[in-house]
Amino acid sequence: MHPNLSFEQAPPISVPYRFFLTAPWFGIAAGLLLLVQGEVLLASRWAPGTLAMVHLFVAGFMLQAMCGALLQFIPVAAGGNIWRPRWLAAIVHPLLIVAAGLLVAAFLAQRPGFFMAAGHTFAVGLGFFIVVLGLAVWRTPAQGATIVALRIALAALLVTLITGVTLATGLAKGLLLPLPPLADVHAAWGLGGWALILLAGVSYFVVPMFQLTPAYPDWFSRGMPWALLAVVGIWSALFPDFPEPLRSIVLLSGVAVAASYGAVTLHLHARRRRKVSDTSFLFFRLAMLSLLLLLLSALMPLFGDDERITVWLGVLALFGVFFSVINGMLYKIMPFINWLQLQRHYGMQALPPTMNQMLAESQMRAQFRVHLVTLTVLLSAVWLPVLARPGGLLLMLDCGWLALNLLRIVGAYRRFKARVA
Ligand code: HEM
Repeated sequence: MHPNLSFEQAPPISVPYRFFLTAPWFGIAAGLLLLVQGEVLLASRWAPGTLAMVHLFVAGFMLQAMCGALLQFIPVAAGGNIWRPRWLAAIVHPLLIVAAGLLVAAFLAQRPGFFMAAGHTFAVGLGFFIVVLGLAVWRTPAQGATIVALRIALAALLVTLITGVTLATGLAKGLLLPLPPLADVHAAWGLGGWALILLAGVSYFVVPMFQLTPAYPDWFSRGMPWALLAVVGIWSALFPDFPEPLRSIVLLSGVAVAASYGAVTLHLHARRRRKVSDTSFLFFRLAMLSLLLLLLSALMPLFGDDERITVWLGVLALFGVFFSVINGMLYKIMPFINWLQLQRHYGMQALPPTMNQMLAESQMRAQFRVHLVTLTVLLSAVWLPVLARPGGLLLMLDCGWLALNLLRIVGAYRRFKARVA
């Protein structure tokens, strides 16, 4: 069902790597913000610092990693022809960094000029990226559930961009927009439509390949993105009133679809051909377990309406699910790209190191342990504010270690090239 891998289509290594190497720095910045501002960031989702921290994650860490992954994945695994990837990356990468920086500054300083500048920069940089990648995935002759998921995810990213820019303009100009409900619609398209559907689509491909599991069942891989899209669509149709109990029912259905992806993936893990649990696999597993916990946690509002419940759901989704899975995938994808490029370059002339030799398992495992502790402390900090600043420090350590490990993977690539030269 999957299109074949076409390695000769791979972009130059600098194209995905510039995004991958930037991503952890946004996580470090998020940790620093939490260290400086402390518990106010975990008390309400609407605090300016909280919105800044959320976007350091979603429009910084996650967006950088996902854009980099798409630039590699679409030509190699989805048969898509991306227009001048080197140019595209050289333009989009700095624009996204500046845009995310401006948006964070806008939240923190509450300056209309920054909101407008962030909106414009995102519209140009991300808009350009979506158009070029959209053309590639729409024109690809390849078919299958992954391609459909990629198409839906990119369309959802466009809706996220449009609603995000509308929100930013509304805040800058003081327009009479229903901001909180619009933010709810924007968040659903960003996390449910873009991030989760992309994650599922890529998983259909990489989980069987890297984790040696059976393929996802056909009915599931085809149905899940559409089901999630339908829930996000119904959620948007409730705008601007979101009447209860409809709001809770639709929210729970969305989380249930998301959790079903976690459950199916864990089921596939149980049927792996080789029971090796490397660190990348453990990160993946943690993300899937977090998805199941998210479903349980989404029942909490039935027992009370504490604002911290939403913050807890946010920490679990952003840090437990998305950060973990991206972290785990980077540990597989980057050594794989290294190996691929070296193999293509030198052929039989010199044998590149194996993927396992690119970065010591002990380095990845140590960072995974820090990550587990960080997740536990951040989740606890929602209810025990005294843990917020230590959580910020741990987040900096976690992301800093990831940054260092990614640089080590690049170092392995450079060392091999230097040796052969
Ligand atoms: C790229 C993916 C993005 C994702 C996944 C995303 C996600 C989110 C989430 C989850 C929230 C709710 C925050 C909370 O409840 O604490 C939010 C709010 C917001 N987002 Fe984004 N966002 C993205 C991009 C953007 C962009 C590009 C802009 C604007 C240029 C933007 C502007 C805003 C604004 C202004 C709010 C807050 C609205 C308010 O104060 O009422 N977002 N976003």
